[in-house]
Amino acid sequence: MHARTLGQGLQVSAIGLGAMGMSQSYGPNPGSRDDMIGVLRGAVERGVTFVDTAEVYGPYVNEELVGEALAPIRDEVVIATKFGWRIEGGKSVGLDSGPEHIRKVADESLARLGIDVIDLYYQHRVDPDVPIEDVAGAVGELVAAGKVRHFGLSEAGASTIRQAHAVHPVTAVQSEYSLWTRDPEPSVLPTCAELGIGFVPFSPLGKGFLTGTVDASTEFAAGDIRSTIPRFAAESRDANQALVAHVRELADAKGATPGQVALAWLLAQQPWIVPIPGTRRLSRVEENAGATALALSADEVADLDAVAARIGVVGNRYNEAGMAMVGR
Ligand SMILES: NC(=O)c1ccc[n+]([C@@H]2O[C@H](COP(=O)([O-])OP(=O)(O)OC[C@H]3O[C@@H](n4cnc5c(N)ncnc54)[C@H](OP(=O)(O)O)[C@@H]3O)[C@@H](O)[C@H]2O)c1
Repeated sequence: MHARTLGQGLQVSAIGLGAMGMSQSYGPNPGSRDDMIGVLRGAVERGVTFVDTAEVYGPYVNEELVGEALAPIRDEVVIATKFGWRIEGGKSVGLDSGPEHIRKVADESLARLGIDVIDLYYQHRVDPDVPIEDVAGAVGELVAAGKVRHFGLSEAGASTIRQAHAVHPVTAVQSEYSLWTRDPEPSVLPTCAELGIGFVPFSPLGKGFLTGTVDASTEFAAGDIRSTIPRFAAESRDANQALVAHVRELADAKGATPGQVALAWLLAQQPWIVPIPGTRRLSRVEENAGATALALSADEVADLDAVAARIGVVGNRYNEAGMAMVGR
């Protein structure tokens, strides 16, 4: 698979792999822990060398899984993880990006991942109680100490990105972006373009919706986060099918899958955009990686944009508490 370059010259595979769903968010795992190790190693063998995890996934077990899986091939992979939560009793109880806390959890993430340096360390959500300059300063000190290579932000607003970048260069912003989530377009993407920062779309398949495998009749298993998301309420799923129908039509015409079209649309936006689809199945890793070989013409991209704008999306992408934490 060809490489793409995020900010600060960080080279990664054009499509990465999100590991979150291996430990949480999508209900019972169809595979065992050993199977997930196989998916992670199999992805790297297939050229997917950018893996995304976070302290809070699990919490903790996802970093341990990723660390164990990638240990034998550590030098071939760019490992990204995230900080920024106060975790008590096995769950996150709020934000904490205090510099002292960042220093402590960075050491803990290094130990769980079994590595000496975190390739890309994102603040998971902007903490309104801690000036972003202090966060950037703390990560800058970790870089100086050789514990972190690159600094990232997740779901930060444009002015926060700018302020952080002035203290320590930001390599990547990771926020939700896909055919049905266009929030970064008005100000975050132009800011990344201006400052030379890469952009990593999370939930690039719309949490599975854009692959055409979820419809109004889908029953989410216990523990599937989608049952708490307004956009995935049964009525919303029904209304939102119209966009998927169009994506499927284009996919059929191009001999591709709807998920590949959704990923190719993202890849077509900018050369410094690197989506990280999440999956627990090697067959889907292969399918998603195949999107790098699917070229969409400018007309096809424009047509998808026009259709998405005309259809619109019913329902927010997070519940109220989640929406309050994004775009700050
Ligand atoms: N920074 C943040 O705040 C944040 C938030 C959310 C996610 N993330 C990161 O972004 C990554 C990806 O996001 P996501 O997992 O939420 O959403 P996603 O990648 O848009 O979709 C994942 C869902 O799609 C399914 N799927 C994947 N490939 C498929 C295919 N080819 N055909 C059909 N279904 C497919 C997966 O099911 P199976 O697993 O069963 O295949 C899973 O249910 C996460 O793993 C995580 O690392 C970051």
